[in-house]
Amino acid sequence: MSTACPITRHTSCSTHPMTTASAPGKIILVGEHAVVYGRPAIAVPVWQVTASAAITARAPGAGCLLVAPDIGLRQPLVAAPADEPLALVTRLVLTALGAPANPDWQIELRSTIPIAGGLGSGAALSAALVRAIFAHLGHAASPEEVSQFVYESERLYHGAPSGIDNTVIAFGQPIWFVKGEPPTPFVAQRPLTLAIADSGVPAPTKETVGDVRRGWLANPAQYEAWFDAIGAVVHAARRAIEVGDLPAVGRLFDDNQALLARLGVSAPQLEQLITAARAAGALGAKLSGGGRGGNIIALVEPPAIEAVRAALLAAGARRVIVTTF
Ligand code: PMV
Repeated sequence: MSTACPITRHTSCSTHPMTTASAPGKIILVGEHAVVYGRPAIAVPVWQVTASAAITARAPGAGCLLVAPDIGLRQPLVAAPADEPLALVTRLVLTALGAPANPDWQIELRSTIPIAGGLGSGAALSAALVRAIFAHLGHAASPEEVSQFVYESERLYHGAPSGIDNTVIAFGQPIWFVKGEPPTPFVAQRPLTLAIADSGVPAPTKETVGDVRRGWLANPAQYEAWFDAIGAVVHAARRAIEVGDLPAVGRLFDDNQALLARLGVSAPQLEQLITAARAAGALGAKLSGGGRGGNIIALVEPPAIEAVRAALLAAGARRVIVTTF
């Protein structure tokens, strides 16, 4: 994990300083979906992919221009609709800091995080943006503040998210998360290496969260039992991570995957990748995030990394990112 300060203020030109800030991608290690219903979950930042925001001055009176080439956005802040997430975050932060509503800035956002793949691309862009605005105005944003502003933009995408994505991205370290409670950052006893494989299928988090809710409303006793079982897996996974028992963590990934399949959020493409990873020597594998598409994660001991990567690509993965925490 990088511990570098994510904010840089370039002062080589004192009249036109540039401020940049960044934020990582993320994955949910265990506990997705049940976390919406109050059970714990563990999430981990992925520093191999990042979003960044750079603020530079524009001519006096030019106003604020938002530029995000990756998502085809180039728009004056004043013309952006109220539900454009990056404009929303910009307005909220400027208001909170008592800054002018339309400063003469160009804000340029870039990201190497795959879009709509469940790696937190939207939340990371917002987090980088919040940090850059704070820093450009001479303030330091605490992780809690960043998390709160990013949550507001996440609500536009997901309705009523648990808050785990904005929290892990704002804190930039592995977290134990329970909805409505402050997160607990923690450190693994032995490093865990994960292969993150993108199925290439869009991950419709809002849909899967909505489907799970409909299932829960129709059959609350059954769903509560599944959520309890996922909660027990998450507790056991934390213990195993804290004592460095990687084979146990792998088995718990498999148990979590079986429960997610019962919730109806797996998909044939995800099962294919999970099966391929296990057959190539992964200690365990599961989907990560909302499901039905997006990424799977496989726990891998370092000697098996290349075999697992090759197996995932042969099984149809679009991209494999390897991360260690
Ligand atoms: O699809 P992602 O990676 O943004 O993950 C969503 C996680 C859920 O538990 C499914 C929803 C939530 O709000 O926590």
